Amino acid sequence: MQFFIDTANLEEIRKFKGLGLLDGVTTNPSLMSKEGKVDFHAHIRQICDIVQGPVSAEVVSTDSEGMLTEARTLARLSPHVVVKLPTIQEGIKALAQCTKEGIKTNMTLVFQPLQALIVAKIGATYVSPFLGRLDDIGQDSMEVLQTIREIYDNYDFRTKILAASLRHPLHVVQAARIGADVATIPPSTLARLLDHPLTDIGLERFLADWKKIKA
Ligand code: E4P
Repeated sequence: MQFFIDTANLEEIRKFKGLGLLDGVTTNPSLMSKEGKVDFHAHIRQICDIVQGPVSAEVVSTDSEGMLTEARTLARLSPHVVVKLPTIQEGIKALAQCTKEGIKTNMTLVFQPLQALIVAKIGATYVSPFLGRLDDIGQDSMEVLQTIREIYDNYDFRTKILAASLRHPLHVVQAARIGADVATIPPSTLARLLDHPLTDIGLERFLADWKKIKA
């Protein structure tokens, strides 16, 4: 399973890249806006330079022509850019053309299996089911993820399943058990992936005992 970080914050990206934990990055308009008044294209280029792996950058047009124009511009920024398109009818049209032009895509805001089936048929590079947002409204997100995995395996689709909107470490474990190809994880959750109180207690004990030998 690959780990992407779900943020547009350069410091966080550098930090987790330095830990060797990052395979890629996902951003969206809300995450970009948290960074204040930045030059979007320059910012995406900077992220690509740091991570040297897939970096999702989202379009904001809602018509396919506008999406395509944005997609082409974004794809020219770096070979690492993956264009994020909304999973709506206009987004599907833009996806078909991006696939033809060899532009990598991440189909976002996916909440049910048929959306995932359709984007795979049209050649999406990634599909992003938003798991946490499903849980928020009382729907079993992992059942949705499992169904998508089964459908993709039935037809050998190459589209990678990118588990998104993850809220806690257990989401990452559950997505890994089901076989999501990628988990995109917010920095606060990434920071907790290695945590276990018994690890800390055990280390403390080892070090205390080691000191006794030295004494
Ligand atoms: C994925 O690409 C999205 O940026 C993200 O995971 C959305 O997460 P949220 O539901 O916590 O906003």
